[in-house]
Order: sequence, then structure tokens, then C-alpha cells
Amino acid sequence: TLKVAIIGGGSSYTPEIIEGFIKRHAELPIKEIWLVDCEEGKEKVEIVGALAQRMVEKAGNLFDVHITLDRKAALKGADFVCTQFRVGLLKARVRDERTALKYDMIGQETNGVGGFAKAMRTIPVILDICKDMEVLCPDAWLINFTNPSGMVTEAVLKYSNIEKIVGLCNVPVLTEKGLEKHLGLAPNEYQLQVAGLNHFIYIRHLWHQGQDRMKEVLNIVADNPDPLRPKNIPPFKWDPDQVRNLGVVPCCYHRYYYLPDQIMLDEIADEKEHGTRGEIVAKMEQELFELYKDPNLNIKPPQLAGRGGEFYSDAACDLISAIHNDKRTIMHVNVRNNGTIKELPEDCAVEVSSVITSNGPVPLNVERFENPAVVGLMRLMKAFEELTVEAAVTGDYGTMLQALTINPMVRKGEITRKVLDELLEINAEYLPQL
Ligand code: NAD
Ligand code: G6P
Ligand code: MN
Repeated sequence: TLKVAIIGGGSSYTPEIIEGFIKRHAELPIKEIWLVDCEEGKEKVEIVGALAQRMVEKAGNLFDVHITLDRKAALKGADFVCTQFRVGLLKARVRDERTALKYDMIGQETNGVGGFAKAMRTIPVILDICKDMEVLCPDAWLINFTNPSGMVTEAVLKYSNIEKIVGLCNVPVLTEKGLEKHLGLAPNEYQLQVAGLNHFIYIRHLWHQGQDRMKEVLNIVADNPDPLRPKNIPPFKWDPDQVRNLGVVPCCYHRYYYLPDQIMLDEIADEKEHGTRGEIVAKMEQELFELYKDPNLNIKPPQLAGRGGEFYSDAACDLISAIHNDKRTIMHVNVRNNGTIKELPEDCAVEVSSVITSNGPVPLNVERFENPAVVGLMRLMKAFEELTVEAAVTGDYGTMLQALTINPMVRKGEITRKVLDELLEINAEYLPQL
């Protein structure tokens, strides 16, 4: 039987992962789920934890749901540790976004200055969790969702002794669902191959009945306003000539790097008019928790589908089941590169299609990226990630400046320093590395 610890258990997404475990009960013999949160999230984890308990009770008391602020008790003897926390909660996200906006930038939570600030807050905490895991559950798998998911995975791989980590994102899941719809495919009759970085993946192949249907995939993305995107990303139409010339299909987050000026103008105008995504999500979260408080509610409410992270639990539960059952199914996950993408360093994290075994993901071989337009930008973004991870560990100011300076989404010159200084100031209570 299995013990699962979920760190950041107070997340409004928790009913989705609980539903995922209930659905897969026949293949996943879970005995205990521990929802862990911190003092700041006490009320949230109590509300969502009680809903989780009602869901499990309705399903026939399949397993025990524990609610705790004691991380060590939750980690002791765990088989799987899922991390889905947000240091500083949504108020910290909104503060980053508002600071970015002040300097006419966007503070999106995984890209540009927002992603940078979130990495700075998150990496010290994940490394602390890893230290606890080394002692309390050294054999457990760490399944990370906490954003920026790729950089968090890379920090664990480079700066902790935990090797059994897999980073996840729902973008590959949504990509598959979108392609299935456009091509009329059923989930198990094709194989997708993606490679790149988290929120920076390219589709390389879609194999179906012995044929590579990439031409059609390129056409779908060239001719439709981004059919493969989560709810937090607005629709957007790629320049079809650019997509067809790339030869590989960019994901919904690539827009920030291919067209930073245009996207920034549009999104800044939109945020100034309608508020930032964090502010919109804060309202949704409040409404969700009002629903969660209802003692008669014992299912995942449909309103949760408005969040960008929809379907993340499919990825998390599928991954856990594939590892536990040695399924050897293909999933698209963040792992140590080890030469998989030859254009990138061996020791960095990459998001690549992998066969999931009981020994973890085995990445599929990826042929070289031939287009310099792809290689150049991917190396640049990896350099940003490497510098950000390093800065989050060392707290070195020069490294922070380098990271921000090379990111296409960050405005250059004096303004880089100004936005950095303000981000460090507003996040000071969450930055022990400084
Ligand atoms: P949230 O604001 O609800 O935070 C989740 C919980 O984490 C909160 O209850 C908070 O109190 C708790 N927390 C904060 N610091 C903690 C700590 N030190 N220890 C334990 N718990 C702590 O966040 P959310 O909107 O539900 O998102 C959760 C996380 O998942 C975020 O990091 C978000 O970016 C990420 N996410 C990732 C994907 C993906 O594709 N990888 C998709 C959706 C969300
Ligand atoms: C997307 C991404 C996440 C992202 C999140 C935002 O699908 O994959 O990594 O940060 O959802 O969703 P939200 O509803 O919080 O804006
Ligand atoms: Mn993601």
C-alpha cells in the first residue's frame, strides 16, 4: 500500500487530484494521503481537506485523508511526494504582476520577471523539502508541479541529493487533447513526441498508423488561434509562414519569446483594463472556497475547470500509476537532460517525451533541432533558467541581473535594475538566500 504526501494541500486544485486517485483506485493501492500546508494556508487546507474527506467517504472510504501543518509527519515513509505549493500564496503572485505592470512589463507567473520572482521564492523551499525527504523518505518519488516547474526540477537535480524527481505541467496534456480533437484521434492510437523546456516545448512528431502527421499538426497551429492552450492563456494567431518555416510546433507560451513586444503591449493593455490574471484567479479562488465550505458538497465542482491548471491531476495520477505499475506508457515530463537534447547542457532539466517505468522516466531519443531559429532561442532560455536557478540558490545579485538581462520579455537598461530591486524588496520575507 502507498502513502502519498501532497505539499501545498490547501490548493484549490486539490479536489482534482483526489478525484484522480479515487478514479484510479483499482490500479493504485493508496492507503493514506497527507495534505500538508503551512501556517499561512491553514484555513485553506482545512476547508479543502474537509471536502477531500467527504469525496473519499462518498467513494466508500477508499483511503485516509490526513490534514496537517507538520511536513515531517507527512513525509515520514511516504512513497510519493507531490509538490503543488505557492510560496506567499496568490497575494505574492499579484504583487509580482503589479510590480511588473508598473514598469510596463508582464509578471506572468512562469515567464519573464514574474517567473523569475516565483523561482526566487520557491527554490529555497523545495530544497528544504528535499533535505527532509533525504531523511524521512529517501526512496520516495518527488512529483513536482510547483511553478516554474522546469526551474524547480533543475534546482532539485543540481542542488539536492534527491534524484527521483519528475517535473510536470499540464500543457502537454492539453496539447494532446487539442490535437485529438482536431485530428479526430483517440488517446491511445497515436504517439506524440515533444522536446524543449517547460512552457517552451516543441512538437517534433505525431506518429499515427506508421505515418508522421507533423504537416497536419503544423497546419492546425498555423491556421487556428492557438488551439492547444490552457484557460489562462488568451487566444493568439501565429504568423503561418513563421510556424511552417520552424518545422516544429511551438507551444502556447512561446509567444512571449517570439513576439515579446506585441504580446506585452496586448497583455499590458488587457491587464490594465481587466486586472491581472492573479487578481482574476483570486476571485475564482474565493468563489471556489465558498463552494468547498458547503458540507453537502462531496464532488469536484465544475467551476474548477476555469483555472489554467485544469487536468493537471491526470498527469500527476497517470505518472504515479505508471511508475507504480511499471506501465511503460509515454508521458511528457521534466527530467535531467543527459544528452537527450544535444544542443543543451547534460545536467539541466528538459521537458521531453519519456517512457515511464518503475525506475522512472526514460526519455525518447530526440534528433537534433536543425533550425538555428529554434536552437538559438532554446539555448538562450535555458541560459536564463540556469542563471535564475543559480541566483535562487546563491542570492547573488550579479547573477540575477544577467538572468533578467538575457530574457527577451524583460525591458533592458536601468529599468531592469529597478524592477529587480523592487521585486526583491516586495518579496523580502520569502527570500532567505539574500
Ligand atoms: P495556491 O496559492 O492555492 O497555493 C497552494 C498552497 O500552497 C496554499 O494553500 C499555500 O498555503 C501553500 N503553501 C505555500 N507555502 C507553503 C509551504 N512552504 N509549505 C506548504 N505549503 C505551502 O496555489 P495554486 O494556484 O493552487 O497553485 C499551486 C502551485 O501549482 C503553484 O506553484 C502553481 O504555479 C502551480 N501550478 C502548476 C501547474 C503546472 O502546469 N505545472 C498548473 C497549475 C498550477
Ligand atoms: C497553466 C500552466 C501552469 C500555469 C497555470 C496558470 O496551464 O501549465 O503552469 O501557471 O496553468 O493557471 P491560473 O489559472 O492559475 O492562471
Ligand atoms: Mn505548466
